[in-house]
Amino acid sequence: MNKALKNLVIAIDGYSSCGKSTIAKDLAKVLNYIYIDTGAMYRAVTLFAMRNNIISNGSIDTEKLEKLLPEIKITFKQNPETKLNETYLNGENIEKEIRRMDVSNNVSLISTLKPVREYLVKLQRDMAKEGGVVMDGRDIGTVVLPDADLKIFMTASPEVRAERRYKELKAKGENVSLEEIMKNLAERDHLDTTRKESPLRQADDAIILDNSNMTPTEQLDWIVEMVNKKTGN
Ligand code: DC
Repeated sequence: MNKALKNLVIAIDGYSSCGKSTIAKDLAKVLNYIYIDTGAMYRAVTLFAMRNNIISNGSIDTEKLEKLLPEIKITFKQNPETKLNETYLNGENIEKEIRRMDVSNNVSLISTLKPVREYLVKLQRDMAKEGGVVMDGRDIGTVVLPDADLKIFMTASPEVRAERRYKELKAKGENVSLEEIMKNLAERDHLDTTRKESPLRQADDAIILDNSNMTPTEQLDWIVEMVNKKTGN
């Protein structure tokens, strides 16, 4: 692999449940890059806040959370069986727990907090500094890595996104309804796009990928072509 290809920084942003992480993971695998799931990092802080009674019934003790932020150590480690990165909070594997519906219901609130964002953005920039990374989230192309070599902004219709999420959670044995998911997604879209701190928006130099009618393979082919254009391959 040539050096330019080895060191690209790729930012993928977009709405909840539009398949960012699937394509980001697949792309990282093809390129032999590191994949960083920044949503998992906001989810890890949320889980920490829930466990420490910092957030409950929609109210947050921001002062307490800010004080405890330095105690929140988030790392990713590859599962040797699945070869996928899993999220660790202070050494504990929390990959499964952070995908639960109650964490999803609280995460948007946590991600509106400036001290939390500042803390995580610093970690994310550190993780990307060597290059050779695919990072996905909401503010990667706009705030975290404004100089990324390739920026993708992903969208899909709300119905398609809800259906995908429904199937995903059902497969994991979660007892949720499609209505509940539609409601959670709509709420998260609203909070993500209207929040004061780093709202979700397309970077001026991002390329749009609407994957409503695309298979994962088609998406991967499309994005690899974008990478090849950047590297002149
Ligand atoms: O991608 P996800 O659904 O796992 O993200 C969880 C939440 O974290 C989502 O509601 C928005 C927030 N988030 C964010 O504010 N900034 C990021 N870079 C990534 C996620």
